[in-house]
Amino acid sequence: MNPEEQKKAAAVAALDYIEDGMKVGLGTGSTANHFIDALGARVKAGLNVVCVPTSIASEERARALGIPLATLEEEPELDVTVDGADEILPEGLVLIKGGGGALTREKIVASSSRKMVVIADASKHMTAETFGKFPLPVEILPFGARATVLKIRAAIEALGMSGELKIRQKDGADFVTDNGGLIVDCHLGHIVTPEKLADALIAIPGVVEQGLFVGIASVALVAGEDGVQTLTA
Ligand code: A5P
Repeated sequence: MNPEEQKKAAAVAALDYIEDGMKVGLGTGSTANHFIDALGARVKAGLNVVCVPTSIASEERARALGIPLATLEEEPELDVTVDGADEILPEGLVLIKGGGGALTREKIVASSSRKMVVIADASKHMTAETFGKFPLPVEILPFGARATVLKIRAAIEALGMSGELKIRQKDGADFVTDNGGLIVDCHLGHIVTPEKLADALIAIPGVVEQGLFVGIASVALVAGEDGVQTLTA
């Protein structure tokens, strides 16, 4: 299987976690898109679910497929959320998310679900030695952005890490999230103490959310050459 086929295989495997009548959180990104497509086919065949999307892009995709949608205001307690990840650390199922900039809504929706099922291709499966290669996304308010970035840098350095911090750009301008926020991509190379880093970042005024998901995911379906492997927290 090539990486795209792996993403699709993981997404299809996640259908096993969906039952008739469930309230389902829909993730964001290319792997989550495969899940939305597969779920759309099940809905067309008669499956009854109500879904809460984690981004405008996922909302539009799901709506086009005829998937019944609700907001988290309307359905504040969900059965399961299925979403991709940028990196998965098997010990504790710690994730890096936010490559698509949707980390804040993704974390709110996943943490409002009884279960979070992560779907991914094998390239996302890390070890303690490799976790943190993907730049860690942190969503911040535009107000005082430079001051917030300085505080993020100080928090990272206080934990013995370092690296370049870049405000994400798109089409020659700052990338703006669905929430009107900016994304700071923290190129750390290696994250040794994700829990401590998560706690330090979220304590900074101006930080809306950070992309480390600690204690949220319950299952990860990781597709590789030989099929789909199930990791549990
Ligand atoms: C979106 O903000 C992210 O958290 C995605 O879930 C993550 O970037 C994985 O995306 P892909 O499935 O496209 O790799």
